[in-house]
Amino acid sequence: MVNLDQCYNIFDLREAAQRRLPKGIFEYVDKGTEDGISLEENRAAFQRLKLHTHFLNDWSERDLGTDIFGKRINLPFGIAPTGSAGLMWYQGEVELARAAAAAGIPFTLAMGALTSLEEVTKAVPDARKWFQLYPWADEAGNYEMVTRARDLGWEALVVTIDHAPGRGREHNERNGFSFPFKPNMTAAVDMALHPGWLLRVMSRYLMNEGMPTNANYPERYRFSVIDGKTRKSPVRFQAMTWEHIKKFRDFWPRKLIVKSILSADQARAAVDAGADAIVVSNHGGRAFDSAIATIDVLPEVVEAVGERCTVILDSGIRRGSDIVKAIGLGAKMVLVGRATLYGTACGGQAGAARAIKILSEEMERSFGYVGVRQVSEIGPHIFARRSVGK
Ligand code: LAC
Repeated sequence: MVNLDQCYNIFDLREAAQRRLPKGIFEYVDKGTEDGISLEENRAAFQRLKLHTHFLNDWSERDLGTDIFGKRINLPFGIAPTGSAGLMWYQGEVELARAAAAAGIPFTLAMGALTSLEEVTKAVPDARKWFQLYPWADEAGNYEMVTRARDLGWEALVVTIDHAPGRGREHNERNGFSFPFKPNMTAAVDMALHPGWLLRVMSRYLMNEGMPTNANYPERYRFSVIDGKTRKSPVRFQAMTWEHIKKFRDFWPRKLIVKSILSADQARAAVDAGADAIVVSNHGGRAFDSAIATIDVLPEVVEAVGERCTVILDSGIRRGSDIVKAIGLGAKMVLVGRATLYGTACGGQAGAARAIKILSEEMERSFGYVGVRQVSEIGPHIFARRSVGK
């Protein structure tokens, strides 16, 4: 067992996760795309920003909560959509969703997750639940999933729009780790070298419900993650335009979030198409390796649409101070993906909760240093002037 108390930061959880997971699965989560430039740049951009210290500013009564869509969340972050929590831990999505619910923060279920909308609804009835979709060319298939989320009362639909060109994740090919997983010899040896993972994760699926599948996909697309017997491969939606977002808008009765925004003009287009919120995101450096860091583009996006929609940021959050910086530049909240996945790999719900706690304690400490007591007090004034605008 990982001693979670001895994981002092997200990087410790990452290392512990690396030891526990087959290499192919760890790299699937951990790495970016192509040369990993975008992934590094996300971190570097946060690190370049420096904050002012402001002491003797009684912060004994502090509150990390904030309002999103008119309702309180206890911390200004939520769980980003990621398809692989169910490979970190047996029923990892449920574990992660429970940790989110217990912390009072939203949970986003990825359409490619191994747990269904229905199971998550049952496991965490009280959580704020968002459903993420990568639209396929088969519009009927898209709407089958969205209809399920709608009828289950989920709060938000998150439409990710960066998927059409495909991914350049060469490490996944090398590791024999693409979806559906078609294990090559390297992958087979890799798994055999991780009997703990086979026991903790894979054998529990096999004993209970069988090999995990993409439980949210319509039946005709569902495949088992290991044997790779795809019935029919869904086609990426290359012909997608803002008209399709407007159509989702007309269909979806609650909050519509458009994810993958990296410029002011795309942000405006999203809001014009009816988005209630946007996620400034380069997919955690996993999509386009020449993408700008989200924190660098955030100010111009906020200037363009900050009054008209809720601006959320993701990609590169590993420290509580990153969250404070994002809010300082105008985000209302952030999403974390890898940080809580590493935690989930280390201890299911308890591990995810540990990641959330680490981030919240670090954030709290940053509050103390910059001299704010609540999220609404965070603004551009927290930055050391010389670090901004370079
Ligand atoms: C990824 C896709 C599935 O980043 O969103 O792996």
